[in-house]
Amino acid sequence: MTQRPNQRVLTGITTTGTLHLGNYVGAIRPAIAASREAGVESFFFMADYHALIKCDDPERINRSRLEIAATWLAAGLDTSRVTFYRQSDIPEIPELTWLLTCVTSKGQMNRAHAYKGATDANAAAGEDLDAGITMGLYSYPILMAADILMFNAHRVPVGKDQVQHIEMARDVAQRFNHLFGQGKEFFVLPEANVEEDVALLPGLDGRKMSKSYDNSIPLFEGGAKGLKEAIARIVTDSKLPGEPKEPEGQALVTIYDAFATAAQRQQFRADLRAGLAWGEAKQQLFDLIEAEIAPLRSRYEALMAHPERIEATLLEGAAKARAVAAPLLAELRQAVGLRSFAARLEVNAPTKAAKAALPVFKQYREADGQFYFKLNAADGHLLLQSQGFAGGRDAGQWVARLKREGAAGLAEAPVTLAEGVAASDVAAALAALQAAEAA
Ligand code: TRP
Repeated sequence: MTQRPNQRVLTGITTTGTLHLGNYVGAIRPAIAASREAGVESFFFMADYHALIKCDDPERINRSRLEIAATWLAAGLDTSRVTFYRQSDIPEIPELTWLLTCVTSKGQMNRAHAYKGATDANAAAGEDLDAGITMGLYSYPILMAADILMFNAHRVPVGKDQVQHIEMARDVAQRFNHLFGQGKEFFVLPEANVEEDVALLPGLDGRKMSKSYDNSIPLFEGGAKGLKEAIARIVTDSKLPGEPKEPEGQALVTIYDAFATAAQRQQFRADLRAGLAWGEAKQQLFDLIEAEIAPLRSRYEALMAHPERIEATLLEGAAKARAVAAPLLAELRQAVGLRSFAARLEVNAPTKAAKAALPVFKQYREADGQFYFKLNAADGHLLLQSQGFAGGRDAGQWVARLKREGAAGLAEAPVTLAEGVAASDVAAALAALQAAEAA
């Protein structure tokens, strides 16, 4: 049997506002399902730098990313399998954004949908073309390219409206590889993954479900009651109970499809053609969605009661993500010529350098007869130190567990951090060891 290398899947959600059913169906649910596939390594994150482009209300930014993190966790995200983090906890991303900005053609950015949409609207209003447009909006696709390329994602699950951004990421990746790779491909060329069936869930009025159209069905907000009220407002035709109804093209039916099995879809259509009343159809739609959403909603509420736990989970995720991002960024800096004057590093010897740059566990026995272990950073400085163990095996088992579980095992481990060392440094070191082990 041949082993395929792990496929990396990555997606982000811009953290403005509250999530609606379209976000769940179009992004969160398929991404979590994909993360459970064998041979898949997933990266999911809160695109909170992107949020700043659209929103200058700090309270809203913060509230929204907390809610979105809680939503992903409530939806069944397994953070031991998936690297789950906030974009703004990864300083390597804005740094990569700049490296990419320097090789992105301005003409291509002129054609980005979001920017073009804004200039078209200005033109229609007789305003200056760039009125009210920030550089953040203009450069939005480059930041997004950095999100994706930083982790060498193969697949990016997104809505159709984002496909152009993935194409731009491919272009800039290619250009960078070509300019600086000297035959080496720094970046994988990512592909958009659009779930064709339900990628764009229609809203109450049949247009794409979107906060900006004010036509969305909330995911958790307002509870079961809010869901029911929103469903009641879905626009249908005015056919009376008993009259045959054409299901195709009805927003109600498309939303139903997103939660139904093939058999349920068929039955629902047959019932409508046989005269099922819209009111009854809405009740069926509510029951169907509520059956899937209710358990998530109660997990969500439990999580929102403990933001500090969400924070800890995200910091662990950031450490894992940085263990991937930092070595690649170091290579890229070398490649573009931002090199140390002291080190005589060869550009073409990154693997050797990366190997040498791993943290190490050391086990030893002290004069007191007890067994100990410690963890040193790649540069040799002490990160943590264990308590004394009566037997060497006990120390060895802890080392094995920390190597296996990474930061997750740290909370229970009988160790103390060295002075000036943060838990996130240790988590990053452990993640680097795990990554090297997996490679
Ligand atoms: N632009 C995406 C959206 O609005 C969010 C996003 C930011 C993203 N960075 C990303 C999605 C990277 C996928 C990959 O939906």
